[in-house]
Amino acid sequence: MITMMASDLPLPRIGRGKVRDIYAVGDDRVLLLTTDRISAFDVVMAETIPMKGAVLTQISAFWFNELEGVVPHHMISADADRIIGEVPVLKDHRASLEGRAMLCRRTKVFPIECVIRGYLSGSAWKEYAAHGTLAGEKLPKGMVESGRLEPAIFSPATKAEAGHDENITTARMREIVGEEVAYTLESMTRAVYTLGERIGRDRGIIIADTKFEFGRDENGRIILIDEVMTPDSSRFWAADAYKPGQPQPSFDKQPLRDYLDAERRAGRWNGEAPAPPLPASVVDATSKRYLEAYRRVTGADLKF
Ligand SMILES: Nc1ncnc2c1ncn2[C@@H]1O[C@H](COP(=O)(O)OP(=O)(O)OP(=O)(O)O)[C@@H](O)[C@H]1O
Ligand SMILES: [Mg+2]
Repeated sequence: MITMMASDLPLPRIGRGKVRDIYAVGDDRVLLLTTDRISAFDVVMAETIPMKGAVLTQISAFWFNELEGVVPHHMISADADRIIGEVPVLKDHRASLEGRAMLCRRTKVFPIECVIRGYLSGSAWKEYAAHGTLAGEKLPKGMVESGRLEPAIFSPATKAEAGHDENITTARMREIVGEEVAYTLESMTRAVYTLGERIGRDRGIIIADTKFEFGRDENGRIILIDEVMTPDSSRFWAADAYKPGQPQPSFDKQPLRDYLDAERRAGRWNGEAPAPPLPASVVDATSKRYLEAYRRVTGADLKF
């Protein structure tokens, strides 16, 4: 398995996120390619994390398979040979695709990040601690940091043009996409998260919160797209180390965050790009965490 900072495939590239490159395949499909880039504190590191791209793509593929019959989704295949069969122009690029590429049905994307939270953490905990609310709605008194939210709370956001997403109320979401679509997106979000949270917890990963995207396919059907319940789109915690009443370590990025925090405290990093170089031990520990996340969620080792 190769490691990859950026891809260069013979297809029109229509996007490049912090971690993924997006290519058009004709006008009805997209190829999502997850590189081994990693970001922390909103800064992309200069190093790649071996196996990270494959872990993220194959965790999404695992969930799409689990969701068969639960919600319609965009995955056609995350298998390099099948993708080459569908898109022959990629035949000399098998090594770049292996593990990390997913061929998907292209949709018109709804401009909403469907965030759902089953545990009170991060910005949601900050809002609750300051105002007793979450997404503007009152929550019961006495909740603790990282405590379970039952039922889970749907807290949508809009994709901001630049920088951070902006939280919106469900009323605002209804104005943007309409009553019926808003209802469908929230119901699908709840169905997917309920299934994923339960499977994850049984297998030793708490998916504390996560974010979904949806789009409309050429038949007008609303389908789940993008990545699903990966460590990049979610907060993953180790179930065996879970202690409510305090922040939880991140299952995947904690070795990296601890290193960067130490560099910052030592006055060697100001918190802005470029990040300090990462020692091989931090890269290696992070790669192992991602592989362990894959193993826990799916119950099998990632083989490539
Ligand atoms: N089936 C699909 N049809 C059309 N667009 C899709 C589909 N699946 C995912 N996308 C889009 O592909 C893009 C994936 O990009 P990516 O996640 O790398 O970047 P991003 O979300 O813009 O930025 P970030 O780096 O913050 O994640 C998103 O804009 C997503 O909406
Ligand atoms: Mg994204």
